[in-house]
Amino acid sequence: MSTELHPNIESINISKEEIEAIVARMGKQISADYANKNPLVIAVLRGAFIFTADLVRAITIPCSVDFMAVSSYGDGVKSSGVVRIVKDLDTKIEGRHVIIAEDILDSGLTLSYLIDLLGARKPASIAVAAFAVKDVPGKVPAIKPAYVGTHVPNEFIVGYGLDFAERYRNLPYVGILKPEVYS
Ligand code: PRP
Repeated sequence: MSTELHPNIESINISKEEIEAIVARMGKQISADYANKNPLVIAVLRGAFIFTADLVRAITIPCSVDFMAVSSYGDGVKSSGVVRIVKDLDTKIEGRHVIIAEDILDSGLTLSYLIDLLGARKPASIAVAAFAVKDVPGKVPAIKPAYVGTHVPNEFIVGYGLDFAERYRNLPYVGILKPEVYS
């Protein structure tokens, strides 16, 4: 896909080059922290599939990957607060060091739910790697990602896995959607 600005994008928030630098840093941190721990990186589908693919390639120690699909937004703009498991893990996580990879932490409802759910399966540890944390009021306060890629403003952003009505996930940058597209 061309890196030319998509006509429905107002401006680029995180460029392809910035994304590469962010993910490289996160991979380096995780590699240092999890040496000899064989962590299981869990991609939260669908949004995190691109970030996770990049993150695991930036991790230089042995690790495994599994996928969970949850849904919280539907096709709209705002989080509904309802989290639904669409696909569960295939891996048993008891005794494993788990890293949940999320493309974006918004209200924190999704992660709050996932951490409770996975915590009940008795992993050795659970950490969160969030590519982007949206600066919004009223976040679930207990959610503190160990690895944060970057902070984003409270705008409707798409790209690098983030969608609006299932579009724009394939943009190689994170951009702000023009309001006329979703209003
Ligand atoms: C997005 C994103 C996170 C969640 C974050 O997923 O990928 O999983 O919302 O929002 P929260 O912190 O307010 O819970 P979404 O439900 O849009 O599904 P998707 O990953 O398939 O795009």
